Amino acid sequence: MQSSNLSFLAEFLKRRSGLHLTPDKYRLVDSRLTRVSRRFGFRNVEALLAELRHEPDGLSKAVSEAMTTNETSFFRDSATFDHFHRFVLPRLLIARARTRRLRIWCAAAATGQEAYSLAMVLDGERRLFENWHIELVATDLSSEMIARAEQGLYSQYEIQRGLPVELLLGNFVQEGEYWRIAERLRWMVSFRTFNLLEPFDALEPFDVIFCRNVLLYFDHATKAATLDKLARVLAPDGHLILGRSESTSASSKAFVPVQAARGCYAKVRAPALVAV
Ligand SMILES: C[S@@+](CC[C@H](N)C(=O)[O-])C[C@H]1O[C@@H](n2cnc3c(N)ncnc32)[C@H](O)[C@@H]1O
Repeated sequence: MQSSNLSFLAEFLKRRSGLHLTPDKYRLVDSRLTRVSRRFGFRNVEALLAELRHEPDGLSKAVSEAMTTNETSFFRDSATFDHFHRFVLPRLLIARARTRRLRIWCAAAATGQEAYSLAMVLDGERRLFENWHIELVATDLSSEMIARAEQGLYSQYEIQRGLPVELLLGNFVQEGEYWRIAERLRWMVSFRTFNLLEPFDALEPFDVIFCRNVLLYFDHATKAATLDKLARVLAPDGHLILGRSESTSASSKAFVPVQAARGCYAKVRAPALVAV
């Protein structure tokens, strides 16, 4: 691919999805965009890119979605879910005892396994949360991923990756070679598309935000701006949970790591006001 096309595409993706197109990803460009060009009836990727310069809506969306990495699994990095279960939930049970309201956001939910893993944890503790209003919101840039997540239908391979066998029965219903998430868990999660580059002004505060394995695709400035917005929609005593290889330290001063768990962050306390 011509270098002018690569630099146009890199600028386009950074602006539309935040993806920082590094040279190690160049080889992905051809295979992923070849599929999009066939779908849209272009001769080749060059012809697709020529049209993309006019930024037609459908094509722009298809290209940004095709370039995302949607790798995920149930209970991915299981220590994170243990931490959520044993440390975060008990604290919130006390801290929100008066309002009995809990809001959790999976901010890059891909095909839904992360959100359904949280739904299974919450469902396992349903007696503690009786009469609570729990909102579990799962969003992703990609409408294709959100549509799959909403279906809640997983192959044997996807089920085998990370789902403890004791959680399969009772939480999934077999449909031929596939497994569908149980209705009661499906209805615990509200799915919708949302681009993390958009303003967060319309969002109400969350008690816990899972934003795992997406910031690592952003450049420094985009990551810093996103962390800044996340800090603004996280409750003062809330928890931010990143992927195990991600950290806030170089990009944000709003968070402090929770020592007990890699990838887990609390908000830095605002300095107390001193009376003068
Ligand atoms: C690697 S998956 C992570 C899935 C899950 N959080 C996990 O850790 O298993 C990254 C997801 O981020 C989504 N994504 C990429 N850029 C995004 C953006 N700007 N806004 C929202 N989601 C985005 C992709 O569509 C993809 O589904």
